[in-house]
Amino acid sequence: MNVKAVVFDAYGTLYDVQSVADVTEETFPGYGEIITQVWRIKQLEYTWLRSLMGQYRDFATVTRDSLAYTLKCLGLEYDDASFARIMEKYLHLDLYPDAMLALEAMAEKKLAILSNGSPDMLNALVRNSGLRPILDAVISVDAKGIFKPSPETYSLIESTLKIPPREVLFISSNPWDACGAKSFGLNVAWIERVTPEAMALACLESETLPPSTMFKAIRTQMDELGFEPDYRIHSLAELPKLVSQRS
Ligand code: 2OP
Repeated sequence: MNVKAVVFDAYGTLYDVQSVADVTEETFPGYGEIITQVWRIKQLEYTWLRSLMGQYRDFATVTRDSLAYTLKCLGLEYDDASFARIMEKYLHLDLYPDAMLALEAMAEKKLAILSNGSPDMLNALVRNSGLRPILDAVISVDAKGIFKPSPETYSLIESTLKIPPREVLFISSNPWDACGAKSFGLNVAWIERVTPEAMALACLESETLPPSTMFKAIRTQMDELGFEPDYRIHSLAELPKLVSQRS
């Protein structure tokens, strides 16, 4: 593999979507964690449903709609101000601690994000987290009006960076995204952000019982779609060495 570009999924890979839990817990005590998990599952589900229905709405809309669904399904009453406060956190998600150093160590490669996020959300997030100067491109699927894992979305990497799929390493923590990218023809590393060990410990140390840990459980398992990632990593810190290898 001769890697010229390293392209990252955003939510769950560079940015911790669970970092909204502080705000959701503060707003709805006792429900913080379950809100983040149902919200994320529903947010993704809406991207796939809308893509299949041919009814694209941008990710900001999908994220709002799925939060409204989540609060209603948990029977939580809310006002505009609390809703807006939770949504605002999506523009200030925590960068995973391994991200900045890994990106800096690969500065000689083209570095980009390819995300479902709408351009306004991604630009705010990248600016707020300090990643803007390190990235060559922030690519949103919005240009295609369909969500990942549609092959059209992955084609945006080549049309934007002018680098063919065989020279791109795509990194995602989302198993379905890793499969989609592999099916398209990219080199793929799946980052296992939630290991079985971490999950077992979380269950021991908290009173959170399934199904609220369901979200974590399904992220520890590669999808059965017939596409295996080329690499499995546990930290972005493994990437600089990986992309410097030639074969
Ligand atoms: C992304 O950033 C949704 O995590 C997915 O595209």
